[in-house]
Amino acid sequence: MKKIRARISGVGMYVPERVVNNRDFEKLVETSDEWIIERTGIRERRFVAEGQANSDMAVRAAEKALALAKVDPAEIDLIIVATVTPDMMFPSTACLIQDRIGAKKAWGFDLSGACSGFLYALMTGAQFIETGKHKKILVVGSDVMSSLIDFTDRATCVLFGDGAGAGLLEPTEEENAILDSILCADGSGGTFLYMPAGGSRQPATVDTVQKRMHYVHQDGRNVFKFAVKFMADVSAELVKRNGFTIDDVKLYVPHQANLRIINAAKDRLKLRDDQVAVNIDRYANTTSATIPSCLAEAHECGKLKTGDLLVLASFGAGFTWGSVLLRWGI
Ligand code: ACO
Repeated sequence: MKKIRARISGVGMYVPERVVNNRDFEKLVETSDEWIIERTGIRERRFVAEGQANSDMAVRAAEKALALAKVDPAEIDLIIVATVTPDMMFPSTACLIQDRIGAKKAWGFDLSGACSGFLYALMTGAQFIETGKHKKILVVGSDVMSSLIDFTDRATCVLFGDGAGAGLLEPTEEENAILDSILCADGSGGTFLYMPAGGSRQPATVDTVQKRMHYVHQDGRNVFKFAVKFMADVSAELVKRNGFTIDDVKLYVPHQANLRIINAAKDRLKLRDDQVAVNIDRYANTTSATIPSCLAEAHECGKLKTGDLLVLASFGAGFTWGSVLLRWGI
């Protein structure tokens, strides 16, 4: 009997309409368009409108993925949402999406993996397909980073944006599917990038709000060092252990946190420019949405053909990191 694999049969993305460019930050903190472009590669990002929440973006991305796959929401078995910025702590964003799109028979849950969240969710969903338990799984990466940003901290506020991406997984006996993955975590890195308050360790109080503890806190230099090495090395191992070379890779889709990190990983892996997906210039770091939004854009502009070899790679708070190898299934 042939092995059942998980094929990505649809992708979609959504970003809010409001464009915020680097000059807008010059009015808030001591920074400049030149510094932000040179140190990060970011030119602009999107922020949600007042009252617009995570699930509002996620639903739009999910509907596009379903339309591309020609799948009715009522057929979905499971919804997994990777996010660190749910609409609220509970109910889960997955349940809110389930209701909004009419995925009547689906169960679902949110998964917290920060910037590696989409890869964690993708591989969790793939297991349910490979075991034969489910036939249609919606995987979403969606984050409203503007809800966690300290707009007085120049070292973090310029880095992030809001956005959502989604993919649909279906079974196949062909090779145009997820082939392999390596997912990792090292919790000792947790103090380099975190949100100190708002959980059970430090519930929200007037004091935690006054101390600005409900925002992203980051040691950028340490995250940078870890990101390049871990993300590139795990991808190299994955490509090699499956008998491929870097030349076989049509598209490398790295997490979009900083163009310098992307370029350093590209050099370490000896990839050409045209093999690397980049959209950080337009959307900044949308956390769990960076990888699915790159996939949706690459598909939409006709860059990907069925069967193309792709490597996805992420790193993020936790520390979390990983890589997924697949053949394009659409
Ligand atoms: N504008 C102007 N100057 C700034 C700004 C800014 N926006 N931000 C920082 N600086 C200053 C610093 O204060 C510092 O000044 P000083 O020398 O007087 O102290 C100087 O620039 C250099 O600071 P560095 O931190 O060394 O700058 P660096 O070149 O490392 O860039 C950055 C900082 C962009 C944050 C970089 O370290 C980075 O991208 N790190 C990784 C971030 C990342 O990947 N995060 C992961 C998110 S994933 C997730 O899970 C959410």
